Amino acid sequence: MDIILLGAPGAGKGTQAKVLEEHTGLVHVASGDLFRAALRQGTELGMLAKSYMDRGALVPDEVVIRMIIERISRPDCSSGVLFDGFPRTSDQARALEHELAAYGRRIDVVIYLKVPDAVLLRRIAGRQTCKTCGSTYNMYYFPSKRLDVCDECGGRLYQRSDDTMETARHRLEVYFAQTMPLIAYFREQGSLLEIDGQQEISLVTDTMIRGLSGVATRHR
Ligand code: AP5
Ligand code: MG
Ligand code: ZN
Repeated sequence: MDIILLGAPGAGKGTQAKVLEEHTGLVHVASGDLFRAALRQGTELGMLAKSYMDRGALVPDEVVIRMIIERISRPDCSSGVLFDGFPRTSDQARALEHELAAYGRRIDVVIYLKVPDAVLLRRIAGRQTCKTCGSTYNMYYFPSKRLDVCDECGGRLYQRSDDTMETARHRLEVYFAQTMPLIAYFREQGSLLEIDGQQEISLVTDTMIRGLSGVATRHR
């Protein structure tokens, strides 16, 4: 299966991807994480992406598409991918469909995590991420046991540089203008699975997994 996790900044894509990855055995491919990794390695791609990310703007389509096509051409992606944060524009969606078709695959399900705007901003403002293992916490909803230290691995927690209120607001505007239209597009194709992302994390996971098994039954 190839699955897309679609939703606004802060909707819980990364959080749910971690669980779904284990449940489905699919490989988690997150465009934002790939850019942040490139930046840590000091590559040209990382520097270029940073100049857009810090403004809350989208990295140009051709750059993102090239990076994702390269990533999914690797052997670990051959039996299916869990896409997080990609596609985000209609050109990206078409490019992905085209690329998957070349492998005889298609987008099987698009999980749309629906969350009200006010909640999104609070989630973004409170997010802390572990430098070592990538686990996420939230200062408002579920803080780590020790301040700035990861419960899982003892790593340092940091706040993403694009998680300031001003940049987060702009990321939401960009999402409404450029990514929201994809919801109607996938709904028309019949691949959209709408999930109430405002529930507690484990309830979101349960709803998602139940929805996915419904889809798998229909495919049989
Ligand atoms: P990206 O890294 O993809 O960020 P995003 O889409 O803005 O999404 P986030 O990672 O902020 O949110 P999330 O949905 O993963 O939420 P999370 O699970 O962490 O992109 C960053 C930038 O990279 C973009 O702005 C752009 O510049 C560039 N980029 C990336 N992809 C691109 C593309 N395809 N094209 C062009 N440019 C691209 O959860 C958030 C917080 O809420 C956490 O603290 C979490 O613990 C908490 N939380 C999660 N679920 C719940 C819940 N149910 N209840 C309470 N709290 C919860
Ligand atoms: Mg994320
Ligand atoms: Zn950690």
